[in-house]
Amino acid sequence: MTQPALVVGSASPHLGRALAQAFGISPVATKMERFPDGELHIEVPPEAIRGRRVVILQTSTPPVGEHLLELLLLADACWRAGAASLEAVIPYVGYARQDRRARAGEPLGGRLVADLLSHGRFERVFTVDLHNPALEGCFGAPLEHLSALPLLAEALRPHVSDTTVVVAPDLGAVKRAEALAKLLGRPWAVVHKARLSGNDVETLGLLGQVRGMRPILVDDMISTGGTLAAAAKELKGEGCVDDFILATTHALLVGPALERLHGVPVKRLVSTDSVEPRQDLPFPHQVVTLAPLLLRALTPDAR
Ligand code: R5P
Repeated sequence: MTQPALVVGSASPHLGRALAQAFGISPVATKMERFPDGELHIEVPPEAIRGRRVVILQTSTPPVGEHLLELLLLADACWRAGAASLEAVIPYVGYARQDRRARAGEPLGGRLVADLLSHGRFERVFTVDLHNPALEGCFGAPLEHLSALPLLAEALRPHVSDTTVVVAPDLGAVKRAEALAKLLGRPWAVVHKARLSGNDVETLGLLGQVRGMRPILVDDMISTGGTLAAAAKELKGEGCVDDFILATTHALLVGPALERLHGVPVKRLVSTDSVEPRQDLPFPHQVVTLAPLLLRALTPDAR
């Protein structure tokens, strides 16, 4: 198979290196600079793009809007340089949590971002563990929605014992927790969470047996850590052993996340590299690369 030209956006250097290595290629050398007014200026080498299948990797971590615009600028540059086809790999899709309007007067941010991406003229978009799989319906291009759960399960397996319980920190994570529990052959439980604001949550109870157990808390993403910290407090109150593993696809860890997780006896965090890994965590962070999963998905013969 002819290898694609791989263009790596500035939000994904870690995964970009791993994916290029998995393909056995070097990423296309792009030039990026900021004009004094803050505008981004991009250049791709036309000779590396013309007539080629081009894959652009860019995750939409903070600053979300900037990174999305950079992806679209890269796509426009490649299209104008004569790319034969364009595909986008967006491991973490920002705004995906705005998949419904909780109150009148709110926008549908997830739908808007999917609409914006249609300007990239992508033939196909690849993503991993979307906050709500139903968002696929908003994308104009075919969406390859990949699951990182088997990769996370493999990384977690050595840490599983006969006291492990997989816990969903809210109702939205139940299917994920159930699937992970099945992969690990362990029981699962769920914490009932209510969101008070973008920054604050409270817990309303728990379903399942957790007394004397060691929890693996699993969620699609950790943003400010509020959900996991609240769930951990509930679990401690219900008699869980002080030995928590956090498992997530997208470890954003923004704002007060570290402060909040400080109160949780985190033994280990297992996440993917959909988000550039932070280097300042006070607990062991095991990063599982998405590169092999993406390589398989991007290799049509293997699909
Ligand atoms: C929400 O439904 C998501 O699945 C996560 O639970 C949530 O977005 C995590 O955010 P935070 O870490 O800020 O509580």
